[in-house]
Amino acid sequence: MSFELLCRSLAAHGQDHLVKYWPELSKNERENLVSELQKLDVVEMNEIFRRAMDSTKVILERNDADLKPIPQTHYEAVPDLSESKIREYETIGFEEISAGRVGVLLLAGGQATRLGFGHPKGMYDVGLPSHKTLFQIQAERILRVQQMAAEYTGKEGSIVWYIMTSEHTMRPTADYFKSHSYFGLNEENIVFFEQGTLPCFDFDGKIILDSKSHISSAPDGNGGLYRSLKTQGVLNDITRRGVRHLHAHSVDNILIKVADPVFIGYCKSKNADCAAKVVQKSTPSEPVGVVCRVNGHYKVVEYSELTDEAAERRNPDGRLTFSAGNICNHYFSSDFLVKICDYESKLKLHVAKKKIPYVDADGVRQKPSEPNGIKMEKFIFDVFEFAEKFICLEVARDVEFSALKNADSVKKDCPSTAREDLLRLHRKYIREAGGVIADDVDVEISPLLSYGGENLTELVGNEVFTISPFHLKSMNEAATNGVNGNGNAH
Ligand code: UD1
Repeated sequence: MSFELLCRSLAAHGQDHLVKYWPELSKNERENLVSELQKLDVVEMNEIFRRAMDSTKVILERNDADLKPIPQTHYEAVPDLSESKIREYETIGFEEISAGRVGVLLLAGGQATRLGFGHPKGMYDVGLPSHKTLFQIQAERILRVQQMAAEYTGKEGSIVWYIMTSEHTMRPTADYFKSHSYFGLNEENIVFFEQGTLPCFDFDGKIILDSKSHISSAPDGNGGLYRSLKTQGVLNDITRRGVRHLHAHSVDNILIKVADPVFIGYCKSKNADCAAKVVQKSTPSEPVGVVCRVNGHYKVVEYSELTDEAAERRNPDGRLTFSAGNICNHYFSSDFLVKICDYESKLKLHVAKKKIPYVDADGVRQKPSEPNGIKMEKFIFDVFEFAEKFICLEVARDVEFSALKNADSVKKDCPSTAREDLLRLHRKYIREAGGVIADDVDVEISPLLSYGGENLTELVGNEVFTISPFHLKSMNEAATNGVNGNGNAH
């Protein structure tokens, strides 16, 4: 489209302020702005703004009486399952992994603003004895679960790791993996892709200029997954490789059981097309979304959208009625993803009022002290309502959930709590395997040695742990990187 046509189209849709500074721009700046404008579908963006505003009204009009908890027929809790049931699900999961039918969708496009870390969050080292980052821990869990599946089934299969990044995290994430030789995984089984962005608007629906030649934009939320799966060719890759089950999760949960065979097996055995792992909410006010039904549709109601009355409601047994805390840990069948990606443009838009830097009437860039506009995001869980068979799996928080959201100064969901939660879990694994360890001794178990507490009895049974901090490695790891902890080879 020529520049003249572009200007006419912008004017026709009330966005011609975007070219206000054109006469002042250098050649490079003009090229940059034109390239951004050409990618911008103003008609669609105006429509998106309108829909986002409408969806805000819908939330306000929702009534508590419309909310119902997940029915028991669609809900199982790992802590209540028999050992044989867990093994049954796990076996199915192992078979799917060995057959190459399992993929992981890692959501790593967030900007880690609350953490205040200038790099992708997956590169964060919470200060474990090994100093492994979140990415490395997850990569090693994939290696280990592949190995477990191969040992169980006698057939080696690979998990495909689809890593969703955004415009700011794509390059550093891909470079980081490359410079660490993909942590021992086969490079061909890691697919990086980039989610889209949406422009930021002021409250009147005008797109904000971040500088005279650059439109203000932000990643389109973790629900941007569906659009990018399609536009970036990932759906085709899933189909081509014959992947049938996708485990999707956030990057920031240090206890994440990546490609969890129990979860995969549970979903496959129930013929689910979509599922969520949940934990019991710790308190009514805990800031996690709640998985429930709204007018018969499965949904996550964010904590900010739940009234105090609904949040505090309890069943006769004392349990919170809306206790299924969402932990951004989901299952999708590949068939469901194919279906959903076709109508992702209808997904709800969530609006957040933000302080967005802008160019003022005098052409000066300002950083506002009060919210001056909105960012819009799609949420990954907004597809639950389109599932034909949606189920939930409750898991134990101390085993599967500790999220890294904030800096240590917040003292909650921060590097210290993530580190402590992982070390506490590893103490539990050591004790279950017959080892002796005091609460003030820090022993980290390498994911290459144990995925979920297995494989430890021979190594730690009757062992008394006194050296702290200590890193318990796999044989191969110890052989390549040196002995364990402070000199004790295992
Ligand atoms: C998320 C859940 C919330 C849950 C909580 C538990 C969503 C929308 N909300 O909230 O219900 O209780 O986790 O920890 O899922 N991300 C992207 N692209 C984006 C934005 C985010 O890939 O544009 C990724 C982040 O990198 C992260 C994950 O999505 O891995 C979760 O995003 P985050 O913004 O941290 O969600 P929360 O507000 O913590």
